[in-house]
Amino acid sequence: MLVCKITCLTGEVPEQTCRSAVAYRDVGEGREQEAEASPARIAARRRSYRMIFCNNWVSAMTKAAAEDYAFYQVVPGDNSFQQEVIDGLSRQPRCIPPKYFYDRDGSRLFESICEQPEYYPTRTETALLKQYADEIAAVAASDCHLIEPGSGSCEKVRHLLDALQPAAYVPLDISCEFLEKAAAGIADDYPWLDVHAVCTDITTEVSLPFIPEQADAVMFYPGSSIGNFDPDDARAFLACLANISGAGGGLLIGVDLKKAPEILDAAYNDANGVTAAFNLNLLRRINRELAGDFDTEAFAHHAFYNSARGRVEMHLISERRQTVSVDGHIFEFNAGDSIHTENSYKYTIDEFQTLAQQAGFTACRVWSDNDDLFSLHYLQVA
Ligand code: TRP
Repeated sequence: MLVCKITCLTGEVPEQTCRSAVAYRDVGEGREQEAEASPARIAARRRSYRMIFCNNWVSAMTKAAAEDYAFYQVVPGDNSFQQEVIDGLSRQPRCIPPKYFYDRDGSRLFESICEQPEYYPTRTETALLKQYADEIAAVAASDCHLIEPGSGSCEKVRHLLDALQPAAYVPLDISCEFLEKAAAGIADDYPWLDVHAVCTDITTEVSLPFIPEQADAVMFYPGSSIGNFDPDDARAFLACLANISGAGGGLLIGVDLKKAPEILDAAYNDANGVTAAFNLNLLRRINRELAGDFDTEAFAHHAFYNSARGRVEMHLISERRQTVSVDGHIFEFNAGDSIHTENSYKYTIDEFQTLAQQAGFTACRVWSDNDDLFSLHYLQVA
């Protein structure tokens, strides 16, 4: 079960939990060419940024240079991946939390899913953001702190920044390396914007003390990621987002709509097999990081729309009888046995607004495309 505990603590963070360092990132060519490059060229493509490693969060940073951004990283400090995989595989039905899809390869594969012709959500939502950026800016407070949980490549927010003119952009993502690059790109391209990137698991406790108490917080949660929570967890997560936003705050959220099952089945079974590769990458990651011996050829991606439950289900199906070992634990699979890896719930506009109301939001505006594929809601904290 995914339970969000994002909090917006403003209290003091104990000094000893943090270490801070100025680091450099390479812009352009890699380090190996440095020996031949002139000092001026090195300076031009190595820019300083501040990295703050913490168990909890530290105070604000002020931008020294236009391209600076703050990067905060939770010290993962535990073996939760190992524990959750062992627990999930020991359970019936077997399941693994979807957040573990997103290692570096997984994040890349997900970007590629978003570009597949059958996967309509990304391009439909992007078109809505472009088309309605001004209307969105008219309802959301300018000068707000724009917080994006699960920011991925930070591509979608680009369609909002010029119209919205937020005071700061706060991307949160579980894939640190990916986040670092994406946040650096935003800091470079929007020199007027403060960027605070937070590498964290958004389903655990996160505090954002660098956000001033009087600031309006607007949450941005695109991609229909809300559909990846079961409805009870989705309600709890939305309530957390309402809590962070506080009075005067809001939530801009993308929600995939209910539609003909054939469209959904195609979207999660792209002909290029990218979604299948993404699903199977979870087993590769387990092999790599947890000394697993999954035969990835002996599991198959299986995704279908379960209309009774209003969700697309993603499974990995064992194609034969086999024994798998993960970190010394043994798991037996029969042919046809499933590991349930993801759900993607679909909502009508009314269903979603009801859920959001139960979580403490009031519906303010909703935009959707002409084919009623996807919806974009702006909700205010009630
Ligand atoms: N939020 C996306 C969705 O539900 C995530 C997603 C798309 C996904 N394709 C996937 C997750 C395939 C796992 C597997 O549409």
